[in-house]
Amino acid sequence: MFFMILFYLSISAFAKIETIFDIKTVVNYQTQTGTKTITIWSTNTRSEPTTTITSTIFTTTTLDDFTSKILSFHNEKRALHENTPPLTYSSQIAENSQEYANEYNCNGTLIHHENPLYGENLALGYETTAAVEAWYDEISFYNYSNPGFTEETGHFTQVIWQNTTMIGCGYKDCGSYYGQYTVCQYFSPGNYAGLFKENVKPLK
Ligand SMILES: *[C@@H]1O[C@H](CO)[C@@H](O)[C@H](O)[C@H]1NC(C)=O
Ligand SMILES: *[C@@H]1O[C@H](CO)[C@@H](O)[C@H](O)[C@H]1NC(C)=O
Ligand SMILES: *[C@@H]1O[C@H](CO)[C@@H](O)[C@H](O)[C@H]1NC(C)=O
Repeated sequence: MFFMILFYLSISAFAKIETIFDIKTVVNYQTQTGTKTITIWSTNTRSEPTTTITSTIFTTTTLDDFTSKILSFHNEKRALHENTPPLTYSSQIAENSQEYANEYNCNGTLIHHENPLYGENLALGYETTAAVEAWYDEISFYNYSNPGFTEETGHFTQVIWQNTTMIGCGYKDCGSYYGQYTVCQYFSPGNYAGLFKENVKPLK
């Protein structure tokens, strides 16, 4: 099973979340429908992205409500962990996320974008902070004695991934049945096999 469907009746009749999983050797791109192998990095050592990401650093007071909530909620969660600095909000990444959200056909299937530059968490049926909460709540399944990717914890590990420094999110209203569709993209992307111990820090 490559996806997780969570039912939170108080949030939506139909709510689910999705994350990306990359491994270094064979680069896998995990989608709701299975695992596609795509050629992104062909060697064991991940090469650095060649595209330049510009980050505009915002203070929460100048941001719209959605952006301010989703950024500060991520940073509240990160602050619970040792040595995990806050994220900054990148307008470039946010634009990318918003474009991706705009394209969504609201049919209930969650499919990741194919931009290997960013990590990505998706949620359907959760309001802004509830989406981050649903991703983060996977902490209860994370085993610090056995660090690594699991389908149950991939969103959590991306949210608090230490080496991730920037975030940008977008959303679309999918009506009363599906509710809000939320896309957050992360740079540098998290969830690299072999790097979980260094990047997923314990609670303070
Ligand atoms: C929803 O749309 C996507 C993109 O067109 C498609 O791949 C997927 O199979 C659709 N899901 C359902 C349940 O129809
Ligand atoms: C966590 O991982 C350790 C090491 O692999 C294992 O011994 C332990 O049983 C795991 N704990 C749970 C709750 O799965
Ligand atoms: C850590 O992040 C920097 C940029 O923020 C990136 O260049 C580097 O590749 C990342 N390292 C890992 C191991 O992901």
